[in-house]
Amino acid sequence: MGKPKKIVINTGGGDAPGLNAVIRGVVLAAHEKGWETWGCKYGYRGLHNTEFLVKLTPEMVWHITDMGGTILGTANRGNPFEYPVKQPDGSVKVIDASDEIVVNFKKLGFDALIAIGGDGSLRLAQKLLKKGIPVIGVPKTIDNDLSATVMTFGFDTAVSTATDAIDKLHTTARSHERVMVVEVMGRYAGWIALNAGVSGSADVILLPEIPFDIEKVCAKIRGLEKQGQTYAIVVVAEGAKPLGGEMATLGPKDIDREVRLGGIAQRIATAIEQKTGKETRVMVLGHLQRGGAPTTFDRLLSLRFGSAAVRFLEEGKSGVMVALAPPTVKAVPIEEAIGKMKAVPLDCDTILTARSLGICLGD
Ligand code: F6P
Repeated sequence: MGKPKKIVINTGGGDAPGLNAVIRGVVLAAHEKGWETWGCKYGYRGLHNTEFLVKLTPEMVWHITDMGGTILGTANRGNPFEYPVKQPDGSVKVIDASDEIVVNFKKLGFDALIAIGGDGSLRLAQKLLKKGIPVIGVPKTIDNDLSATVMTFGFDTAVSTATDAIDKLHTTARSHERVMVVEVMGRYAGWIALNAGVSGSADVILLPEIPFDIEKVCAKIRGLEKQGQTYAIVVVAEGAKPLGGEMATLGPKDIDREVRLGGIAQRIATAIEQKTGKETRVMVLGHLQRGGAPTTFDRLLSLRFGSAAVRFLEEGKSGVMVALAPPTVKAVPIEEAIGKMKAVPLDCDTILTARSLGICLGD
């Protein structure tokens, strides 16, 4: 057995159900080996300002498997290479704090960083790896759009939340003979819309991967009416766009962040009302999909990811991400995961299933 390690863990980017279960998996697996685990709060803030570093003991993670959010907090604006520092006059100056972070990491005697995050956070982890910090990545995002892993944690919970919402909307849509347009998350990939839409018996599902023709959507609704179904459920991913059109965004893009998406459901609802004369309502699920207790599947996946991260460290691995490859969890180079976005393949079985159930995909 090698010398006990001192590791540090952080959570970056948008939160996802299961973050706490990963933390628990790491802390307990490390403790079993006699290692120390520290938490770096709010992304990389703890490695910049050590007041935000906290030692994580087994007692601190006893009851967190079923807790949403992250006990470490997270940051969308925590890029150490473009780090925002508040100035005495209240203004914010963006600096490259990466060298400082590497120095602190070494000075504090850490052996490795476990970075839990999506594409953006893993890209940062990869840059820190190049600067000499040994890193293991853990793939998180409710969007499930990371390559190299069959699934990210958080996705199953988000699908479950969205399906539950769609189920509830069926009854009110039917009572009022309305069309309900439900907007779910899914920036560049429509995994949530597809899985929740099929499971929740949607009539129309619109994904970023298939630019939609509003005439096809309206034809589907009219067709349902002819068959005696006087209501309809349309599920749309926030990143879906019309044929020849653009994604619906909320305001201009900030320099260090992705543009905020939103509004596509309202645009579709307005068009449906105009073209079919059907009363139409909109429901935007938004951040509800990121909250709450993780499903059993996500809890288990997160605990498996956390303990695998520690196992890989013990095996001397670095620069890898834990990845689900049923029936196992394997190590893949972080580079492989961040190189390519995992869109819904148009010939995948769930798409074929949707089509054979008569669901309109807008094409
Ligand atoms: O985690 C990805 C995601 O959920 C996207 O689907 C969505 O566009 C984005 O996060 C929202 O992020 P924020 O919380 O920063 O608004």
